[in-house]
Amino acid sequence: MAAREGTVIQDGRRASLTLGRLIKSGGAGSVFLIRERPLEVAKLYHPGVDTRVYERKLRAMLELSPDLPDVQEKGVRHVQIAWPTGLLQERGGRFIGFSMPVLDIAATSDLEHVLQERQARAEGLPTTLGAKATLAANLAVMLAALHRRQHYVVDLKPLNVRFYRKSLFIAMLDCDGFSIQGEGERFPAGQVTTDYLAPEFQLHGVKPGEEEAQDRFALAVMVFQLLNAGLHPYSGRPQGANLPSDLPGRIASHLYAYAVSGNSHILPSPVSGHQGFPAPLRGMFDRAFSQRPLQRPTASEWGALLQGYARRSAGQLVKCGKDGTHQHFAGLPCAACARKSLLSKAERATRSHAPRRANAGKKRPRAAAAHGAVTPAPLRNVARGAAAPPAAQPAAAAPLGPGARVLFAAVGPLLLGWVMGWGMPAYRAYHAAADPGWREAMALGVQGGLLLLGALLFVLFVPVLVTSKRP
Ligand SMILES: Nc1ncnc2c1ncn2[C@@H]1O[C@H](COP(=O)(O)OP(=O)(O)OP(=O)(O)O)[C@@H](O)[C@H]1O
Ligand SMILES: [Mg+2]
Repeated sequence: MAAREGTVIQDGRRASLTLGRLIKSGGAGSVFLIRERPLEVAKLYHPGVDTRVYERKLRAMLELSPDLPDVQEKGVRHVQIAWPTGLLQERGGRFIGFSMPVLDIAATSDLEHVLQERQARAEGLPTTLGAKATLAANLAVMLAALHRRQHYVVDLKPLNVRFYRKSLFIAMLDCDGFSIQGEGERFPAGQVTTDYLAPEFQLHGVKPGEEEAQDRFALAVMVFQLLNAGLHPYSGRPQGANLPSDLPGRIASHLYAYAVSGNSHILPSPVSGHQGFPAPLRGMFDRAFSQRPLQRPTASEWGALLQGYARRSAGQLVKCGKDGTHQHFAGLPCAACARKSLLSKAERATRSHAPRRANAGKKRPRAAAAHGAVTPAPLRNVARGAAAPPAAQPAAAAPLGPGARVLFAAVGPLLLGWVMGWGMPAYRAYHAAADPGWREAMALGVQGGLLLLGALLFVLFVPVLVTSKRP
């Protein structure tokens, strides 16, 4: 059936429903408003999707719903999870999709957008450590509720998790893609993302029964990123040429640089704030990224720890004394201040180490560009205290004072004008004269000398002007 606005379908009790506006079409199906039910939407699978498996999976989801009711805050209803509410069928009775609560997508953003501080600030998203601890806590609590029913997200990553910008509650979509526990049957998840895939699954993927270990790993990666300015726990500075440079390769090789006991193969990124994490938090990360998957903290363990940080009354997060926009863990240094000072040092290093540009016509690189990457290249110099010598300058690019350049700019066109407007006609006149005497010859000789000198100066003037720098 080609679903479109106005098509009449049926719910599980054969009540007629009319499709409203198409909200969005994804890889598996299209999501429509339902005219008769303003609080619900319909997801209808695309032709070619194996609806027989989805029908059984959806029945299992309806039988075993997680305990994640809508939450009310200041009179606004927040749907936490778009869990199916019923099956949908064609008028002939064939299964075509399911209904679920409508989520106010416009009031939400995905977690990916909150991880990069500059992007978050530009979009008005939360940037404080407190807000991020709250997001991390809410995510862990939601996962714990899913895990209690033995349902797993599997393709858990910041891009797949949304949150309400005002309340910071999590909003989960695309639940029919999760790994679902049915009556004596498991319906696997379809996808994984290798940057968030646990070491033991990097080679062969996640098999049925292994999903919780995967969700625990991906949750720990996301918590680390939320509390550490977007830094991935497997980023860092490898100490060896043969070590993998990509995140999946580093995950598979257990190259976690932020363990309490360190890692001789990889050093932490200088912008990391892990030294400002309290011991219980570092202990949890050490367990999550150790070589023993069975030690990985559960979602409910994460929930309990993070709620402690997120609760304002607990006083575990405090305002920074130096910069009121920063927060840090009580009794520990402010990681945001350290990051800021490192970045401004890097910025200064970028300015002083950048090779002087030979082309005066081009714009200078903007200082703010140093903020763009989490680990800008000059930062490494700052951290190691090694100052790269400025690149050698070509001779022609020797500094030229502003006065000299003005002189050249004034004399150059005059010489050129003389060559083109006076010298050449005089030469032509001499040639055209029927009987030129020694006076004409002398005059032309002097003019010819001046012409040669002018041309020489002009030839010299052009490259010097082109290669000279701005003051
Ligand atoms: N409950 C909902 N309320 C409002 N909009 C929704 C809801 N569910 C899905 N959408 C919108 O429809 C889009 C596609 O939905 P969904 O991700 O479930 O489809 P999909 O075909 O499985 O996509 P993908 O291939 O990305 O997994 C979502 O990105 C979202 O914009
Ligand atoms: Mg999907």
